[in-house]
Amino acid sequence: MKNKSKLFWIIVTIVSSILLFYKSSSNNVCKNYSDYFLMHNNENCWHEPGYYAEVPQIILQRNYSLETYYTVTEDGYILKTFRILPKGETKGLIFLEHSFVANAEIWVDKGDLSLGLYLLDKGYEVWLGNLRGSKYSNTHLNYTMSDFEYWDFSFHEQGYYDMKSQFDLVQRITNRNDIVFISYSMAGTSSIAYASLRPNHAKNSLKAIINIGSLIHISNMQGAARDVANILENTKILKIMQWLRIGWLPYGSVLSFFKNIACNSHPFRSLCIIAHEPMIGFSKTEMDASNVPIILQKFPDGASVKSLNHYLQMYYSGGKMQLYDYGPEENMRLYNSTKPPLYPLRNINVPVFTYHGTEDFFTNSKDIEDFYNDLRQKLKYMATRRWKTIITSI
Ligand SMILES: *[C@@H]1O[C@H](CO)[C@@H](O)[C@H](O)[C@H]1NC(C)=O
Ligand SMILES: *[C@@H]1O[C@H](CO)[C@@H](O)[C@H](O)[C@H]1NC(C)=O
Ligand SMILES: *[C@@H]1O[C@H](CO)[C@@H](O)[C@H](O)[C@H]1NC(C)=O
Repeated sequence: MKNKSKLFWIIVTIVSSILLFYKSSSNNVCKNYSDYFLMHNNENCWHEPGYYAEVPQIILQRNYSLETYYTVTEDGYILKTFRILPKGETKGLIFLEHSFVANAEIWVDKGDLSLGLYLLDKGYEVWLGNLRGSKYSNTHLNYTMSDFEYWDFSFHEQGYYDMKSQFDLVQRITNRNDIVFISYSMAGTSSIAYASLRPNHAKNSLKAIINIGSLIHISNMQGAARDVANILENTKILKIMQWLRIGWLPYGSVLSFFKNIACNSHPFRSLCIIAHEPMIGFSKTEMDASNVPIILQKFPDGASVKSLNHYLQMYYSGGKMQLYDYGPEENMRLYNSTKPPLYPLRNINVPVFTYHGTEDFFTNSKDIEDFYNDLRQKLKYMATRRWKTIITSI
């Protein structure tokens, strides 16, 4: 009896102190994971404008000059691309391409920790791409985002068409053919589709491809990544979605509404911050706690079911990068073969650098090594985690 009443008072104390300390705070990020329990009046927490602001606001706030361009791909998608000039003389040109379920904001929304802002500060001209299906590139000549046809693309088309169109734009505006291309996650897969199927275009546009955490060979995925693949395969959920003509993954206002209830209200926020860990890998020491709310706030942007299906096909056919499997008849018509061919990695003739986190569930050294073994000898570059020094030396 005594224990029960003790427990009761402990709970009352905890709940009331949470309610007592809860005031809507303008702070939205904190230095440590533990600081998220009490953000108000906490000197380790502050207001990070990138949390809500879009690319133009963030850039103009920092007094950089911003140019916005629209291009149309060969298959009719309208892409928005940003060009940002450094304040002094230009040292080089770097093109940054975002990951799955994201857009160009990922490069500039985390204050001084943002790679895009870091490179601008170091004197590089920075271009930010927005692939089809993302918030900044959401229109097509003939379709709207509510048409199934709009979403009939995977990372293949984002490489083969979008990247070509973006690099053509850079050349038209700057007359440069020494773009250093940096991608994160799925854009790395797209870059390899582009560079292997359009080797001359890549050679005439790029100086190097730098892929961070990219998925190219995917036979050795770990932990949650492997579990997700198994669940998707066993439930046939992607096939069912395609059969129902649902081409996109859930995103947008309805999802944001629920996410805001779950993640933006104190004290649930701290739980949300902790919950993302099992999905992407555990690395409290390397993941800056102040980044996590921003990642959650922006996640997810629009993405196609076909991209996931394409990865799944690769994973269950041995893990090598292969073209999309449309079934024997359609494959025969498209590829002159009942099975989809592998991407011709030996055609790639620009240097490829690959970097990955050691705790990342999706990429690992074994798969990267397999990929490098499929490249031509003279283009082999092994991964290192000291990648800052490489950017400034190429
Ligand atoms: C941008 O320019 C304005 C007006 O010149 C100045 O007040 C502000 O401090 C500058 N901001 C930054 C981040 O340099
Ligand atoms: C858009 O529609 C026009 C007219 O039907 C057609 O000629 C064109 O090929 C279509 N373009 C794309 C990219 O689908
Ligand atoms: C299709 O494949 C067959 C057998 O592999 C080959 O003989 C033929 O030339 C190919 N046709 C085309 C159009 O590539």
